[in-house]
Amino acid sequence: GPVTRWLAAMPKAELHLHIDGSLRAPRLLQLAAKHGVSLPYASVEEVEAAYNFSDLQSFLDLYYLGASVLRDAEDFYFLMQDYLEVCRVQNIVHCEIMVEPQTYLPQGVELSVVLEGFDKAIAEAKSGWGQSVGLILSFLRHLPEADALAMLEAADPYREHFCAIGLASAERDFPPANFQTLYREAKKRGYELTAHAGEEGPASFIRDALQLLKVTRIDHGVRAVDDADLLQQLAADRVPLTVCPLSNVRLCVYDSLSEHRIFDLLEQGLCITVNSDDPAYFGGDLLENFAALESELDMSREQAVMLVRNGFEAAFLPSDAKLALD
Ligand code: ADE
Ligand code: ZN
Repeated sequence: GPVTRWLAAMPKAELHLHIDGSLRAPRLLQLAAKHGVSLPYASVEEVEAAYNFSDLQSFLDLYYLGASVLRDAEDFYFLMQDYLEVCRVQNIVHCEIMVEPQTYLPQGVELSVVLEGFDKAIAEAKSGWGQSVGLILSFLRHLPEADALAMLEAADPYREHFCAIGLASAERDFPPANFQTLYREAKKRGYELTAHAGEEGPASFIRDALQLLKVTRIDHGVRAVDDADLLQQLAADRVPLTVCPLSNVRLCVYDSLSEHRIFDLLEQGLCITVNSDDPAYFGGDLLENFAALESELDMSREQAVMLVRNGFEAAFLPSDAKLALD
């Protein structure tokens, strides 16, 4: 629609993007063939037909399977290059990308290899068109906290590569309370702190992420709608929520976008941002998420501008850098 066409040319930020979730079917099949990894798909059509999810776990099973084709620095270079090309085309001038090194450990891939590939693609995008990139060291909550702590330590030599830590994967059985030592250790090291909370899990997990983990930003957070006091606190403190509309529908958090409460949250004064989460799996990059808000929820120009501005306000950037980008 017209609002989305207008937004296309506007500089935007994206703050909630899992790099493994940007691995598209053609690249997935290419890398599987390169490394002789057998997948239950023979064509792009079969991959896309399989991406029909009933909940978060049904998605995560295929997400980790897909990421298992990533084996050497060249693979990580191509993966990052593909996403940064989307940033260039969609005018996403600043992005914060979740990297989940624990995902690659079963394949014997170490963090140094992952970062070698990512660094090359990021350096090219920075010098090529001035792309701004932050990396978020994101941990897998279905694994023990001790594993996360070991990865946090393994990342110490690469501390300057990351702006923040995050917490992702299966939410419901793995509450924020399990990761208090991890977040205390990360804070000591000077990382910014974010965590997935209130996607499939309850509003109380958002409270716990704020109180127990001391996060300053919440990934998803849509279940806050169930807790009026929490909504007031989120609005008063301008705690950003990185909302992912197409993801929420594809993972059945909402039956359809028309049931999404994103504009209620925005009107209540929360710092709501729009993001794509795992665009290769959920059928759209950042601009397609805005397009869906326009077509399904009648997003106005004023709402669109607020969402875009919030993306820069919520970024883990020094405030002078934010002004330069906004
Ligand atoms: N990992 C990748 N995408 C995710 C999501 N939407 N929720 C939790 N973990 C994830
Ligand atoms: Zn996510």
